[in-house]
Amino acid sequence: MRPRILTGDTPSGRLHLGHWVGSLENRVRLQDEYDCFFLLANVHGFTTRADRPEDVRRDTLEIVKDWLAVGIDPERSTFVLQSEIPAIAELSWYFAMLLPFNRVMRNPTLKTEIELKGLGDHYSFGFPLYAVGQCADILTFRATLVPVGEDQVAHIEMCREVARRFNWTYCGIDPQTVDEDHVRAGGLFPIPSALVGRVGRLPGTDGKHKMSKSLGNVIYLTDTAQEIKKKLSGLYTGRQSMTEPGDVNNALFQYVRAFIKEPARVAELEDRYARGDRLGDGHVKVEVAEAIDALLAPMRERRAALEGEAGDRRVLELLREHTARANALAEETLRLAKQAMRLDFGGRTLGLG
Ligand code: TRP
Repeated sequence: MRPRILTGDTPSGRLHLGHWVGSLENRVRLQDEYDCFFLLANVHGFTTRADRPEDVRRDTLEIVKDWLAVGIDPERSTFVLQSEIPAIAELSWYFAMLLPFNRVMRNPTLKTEIELKGLGDHYSFGFPLYAVGQCADILTFRATLVPVGEDQVAHIEMCREVARRFNWTYCGIDPQTVDEDHVRAGGLFPIPSALVGRVGRLPGTDGKHKMSKSLGNVIYLTDTAQEIKKKLSGLYTGRQSMTEPGDVNNALFQYVRAFIKEPARVAELEDRYARGDRLGDGHVKVEVAEAIDALLAPMRERRAALEGEAGDRRVLELLREHTARANALAEETLRLAKQAMRLDFGGRTLGLG
């Protein structure tokens, strides 16, 4: 039996390059080594868009198309449609009881999000609850590895705490037990690790902030060569001339290292830029744009085959099939968790009509 991965995306728009380097690339790479579960966090989609159900639904289907386009293989990996996995919702309740309220509210990812999205003190009760739900997403599938961007690491840390506390409280695990030994010692939940992509935080095309849809500084996986060039040409470096020594840690050079494949070429560009050896920003941008286009071209092609209603039908068909697969494991975990909690009043079966 292969170890399991669970990770996923909130349907709040199409996926972009930040998702690729932060997590998608790892997902595609690890499909053989791990039994992979990829979550469509459509329930979480409602935390900030409860009044826009059509948008959440559309973005959910779009994300599946993006996944198929980047090379996630529906034969090997399982898509998890969050709203149709009742075990996740049930476990969220039990886990909420294992987390101090103030611990959740101190979660730095939630705090940053409140700030970035301008939620002030108007956010719903469900908004902080999603962080507890995220622990349940991972633990429902008893995953050991969670490939994510850097911004999600605080959530995974909270999930690790919940898993330990459950195992201590209901499975008789000694609190001295090291994380790696929890399952061997009889704990239900493995203590999962985060796996951050080779670029944990990609700057946006504004050259300043993290690439993020809400900041309008993203390159989508579906962008054309022209759009990529145009967006990059606007990237601000603050450099005045080709002979001015450049900062190889600026946003432009983070792109150089993230997307230009040949290490020798990267080293050469860094060297000339740092010395102010007549290497213009415009030239570097064009080279980066070409590298990004080469990466995205095959994705665009695969995605084109999924456009329109026929594509939607294909996606819905996959979701139906995968929901049954996902619930088989999720229900098993829930049954074991309830047994451990002395909530064992007999089994149940679930099906989708
Ligand atoms: N919060 C994640 C995001 O918006 C999505 C997500 C939900 C997730 N549940 C998860 C990621 C569990 C990893 C594991 O990107």
